[in-house]
Amino acid sequence: MEQTSKPMRIAVIDDDRMSLRLARRVFEKAGVEGVYLGSGAEALAYFGGAPGVDLVLLDVYMPDMNGFDVLKHLKADPVYRNVPVVFLTGDEDVKTETAGLHAGAADFIRKPFAAEVLLKRVKNIIELNRLHGDMASEIRAKTEKLSRAYIQIVEALAASVDAKDRYTHGHSSRVAAYSREIARRAGFSAPEQDTVFMMGLLHDVGKIGVADSIINKNGRLTDEEYAVIKTHPAVGAEILKKITDLPELMVGARWHHERYDGRGYPDGLAGEAIPEVARIIAVADTYDAMTSNRSYRGALSQQKVRSEIERCRGSQFDPRFADIMLSMIDEDPDYRMREI
Ligand SMILES: [Fe+2]
Repeated sequence: MEQTSKPMRIAVIDDDRMSLRLARRVFEKAGVEGVYLGSGAEALAYFGGAPGVDLVLLDVYMPDMNGFDVLKHLKADPVYRNVPVVFLTGDEDVKTETAGLHAGAADFIRKPFAAEVLLKRVKNIIELNRLHGDMASEIRAKTEKLSRAYIQIVEALAASVDAKDRYTHGHSSRVAAYSREIARRAGFSAPEQDTVFMMGLLHDVGKIGVADSIINKNGRLTDEEYAVIKTHPAVGAEILKKITDLPELMVGARWHHERYDGRGYPDGLAGEAIPEVARIIAVADTYDAMTSNRSYRGALSQQKVRSEIERCRGSQFDPRFADIMLSMIDEDPDYRMREI
């Protein structure tokens, strides 16, 4: 008899003592561990606290509690939900078989069974189920790793932008965090909030294309220099457009300098024509600019920041998101929400 890598453990539930004894003989001879139970009630008592088995062989027709009832209990039990259940049936009733498959049975074996067939099919199902479980957990682990790597790559990219600017440490991370909080309060779902966070992290990525001398200039910018600064949304969008599997990433980069009244750049969009997330990031971005230290000034007072947001509510900012920002400010009496 062929050997499998891991020992197998099965449960056989049948009110017919003869067939229970026969099954025990087959499995014991093959070195398969087993537990042999004479009724549905006995089975449920056993499954209540027992360690898992790899497969359940279950007689359909039993006097007290039939195979369908036992199956229903097993499928409702988190420990046994994924354990394959094979029905043992004495007749050739197609209806019973169909109903069993619908109820979640993995297969049928008709009684009286031939020892070799019983053993082979049980082993095949166990191996297939184990393979399936292994693959599922491998895929889960790889997916988790990939999404962690995705976040880390985006954070690294954002940090490289922030590193260019001598005066704004952690600007992108703070804008991302404020944007996510605004989105949360606005009723965005958790995955939507995550996307907003990513877009916030990357909103200034186009500054990679702006000379350090302009970004770090002390004092007033010339018109030419300001024109160069104003290219960063379009440059950022061009960079992020290359990530074709995540087309939404470029939205924050391209439109975070649009104004609600249409007087922003680069496209002069107004109101609802500006993507919602860009309207959120616009508020968070300006808030962080005012609450960060600059070479020529420290962070503005919270009262000044609040009145600026309020003043620009409806002109620069979508009133809805400005209001959320205002309530965030009001819930921050110690003025913790700023660069420290
Ligand atoms: Fe920007």
